[in-house]
Amino acid sequence: MTSIIHDIRGAKHPLDRLGRPLHDLRISVMDRCNFRCPYCMPKEQFHENYQFLKSRERLSFDEIVRLARLFTALGVRKIRLTGGEPLLRANLADLVGDLTGIPGIEDIALTTNGVLLANHAVDLHANGLKRITVSLDSLDKDIFARLSGGFGALDQVLAGIDAAIAAGMTPVKINAVIERGVNDHTALDLVEHFRGTPVIVRFIEFMDVGNRNHWRPDMVVPSRELAARVNARWPMHPVSQNYRGEVAQRWRFDDGGGEVGFISSVSQPFCGACSRARLSSEGKFYTCLFATQGLDLRAPMRAGADDADLLHIIRGAWAGRNDRYSELREELRRTMPEPKKIEMYYIGG
Ligand code: GTP
Ligand code: 5AD
Ligand code: SF4
Ligand code: SF4
Repeated sequence: MTSIIHDIRGAKHPLDRLGRPLHDLRISVMDRCNFRCPYCMPKEQFHENYQFLKSRERLSFDEIVRLARLFTALGVRKIRLTGGEPLLRANLADLVGDLTGIPGIEDIALTTNGVLLANHAVDLHANGLKRITVSLDSLDKDIFARLSGGFGALDQVLAGIDAAIAAGMTPVKINAVIERGVNDHTALDLVEHFRGTPVIVRFIEFMDVGNRNHWRPDMVVPSRELAARVNARWPMHPVSQNYRGEVAQRWRFDDGGGEVGFISSVSQPFCGACSRARLSSEGKFYTCLFATQGLDLRAPMRAGADDADLLHIIRGAWAGRNDRYSELREELRRTMPEPKKIEMYYIGG
C-alpha cells in the first residue's frame, strides 16, 4: 500500500519507501552547455560531434508546465530550473512566467553558469524569478579557464552576478565545486571577494556524479576541513536551516559579513531528508542524482495519456523510491562494480 501524507488543504501526497515526501522538482531545460567543466562535461568526451538531444526530443514549454502542474498536485512546492546551461534555452523567461502562475508553487529558482546572465536578468526577474544560483569555482583567471574548459569568461560571470543583484534577485548564491589540488587554495578568495555583498558563497564537495569525471575520494576536500580554514580567518557560527531538507549547512560570520554554506554530500550525506525529484530535458523522471535509470514521461504524454494516467505513473514511481546513494557510496564502491549513472550535464545537479 502506498504511504500518503495530507497537506493543509487535505490533498493526498505520496511518501516514498523511506517516508520522504516529494517537495522539490529540479527541471533540466537544456542538455547542452557553453562550458566544459572537467568535473561535469570533460572536453575530450563532449566534443564538437557529441550527439546532444534534438530540439523535438526536448520537452516543449507546454509539456514542462503540464508536468510541473501534476508534480504540484503530488506535493511539489519548489522548482529549480537547471541544464546543462538553462539560459541556452530560447525564451526561458517565458517558461518562468508560466511556472510562476501554477497554484501551489511557492519558489522558483535557477542554476546557471552565469555567462549569459547579464542579458537575461531583468527579463527573468520581470517574469517572476526570485532566486539565482551561479556556478563559480574560482576567481583566479587561469583556474577559472581550466574549470570551465576554456570557454567561459570570468568577467562575464561577474557581470551576470552584478546584473542579478541589480535586478533584485538577492541574495545571489554561488556554487563552488572544490577539488583538492585544483582550486582548494583559491577557495578563501571567493569568500573574501563576496563577504559583505548580497552574495552567499557555497562550497560543494566534488561528487562522483556520472561516470566520466575521473572522481577519486582523495580529490574531495571535506567541508569540515574547509570550514576550519574559513573560520580561522573569519570566525563564524552555525545557523539553522532555512527549510527542512536544505542541502547546504549555513554559517554566519561573527563580524556581520554575511554567511557561507557547505554542501557535504560525500562527507555528511543528506539523503534522509531528500525530497527532490528531477526531470531531464527529454522528459525522464529521476528520483536520485545518482540514478541509473529514469522513467520516461514524454512517451506516455505524447501518446495521449491523460492527467490521471500521468499522476498514477509519477505517484507510483515516488512511492517505490528508496534511493540513498550518498549514504551507501562507500559500501557500494567497496562491493559492486561502478554502476552506469546519469551524467550531471543531463540532469543539472
Ligand atoms: P536552495 O534552494 O537555495 O537551498 O538551493 P539548492 O541547494 O537546492 O540548489 P542548488 O542547485 O544550488 O544545489 C547545490 C548543489 O548541491 C547542486 O548543484 C548539487 O551539486 C548539490 N545537490 C543538490 N541537491 C542534491 C541532492 O539531492 N543530492 C546530492 N547528492 N547533491 C545535491
Ligand atoms: N560534483 C559536485 N558538484 C557538481 N556540479 C557539477 N558537477 C559536479 C560534481 N561532480 C555542480 C555545478 C553546478 C551544479 C549544477 O552542480 O558546479 O553548480
Ligand atoms: Fe555546464 Fe554547469 Fe556542467 Fe559546467 S557544471 S559543464 S556549467 S552544466
Ligand atoms: Fe537525494 Fe540521491 Fe542525493 Fe541522496 S544521493 S540526497 S537520495 S539525490
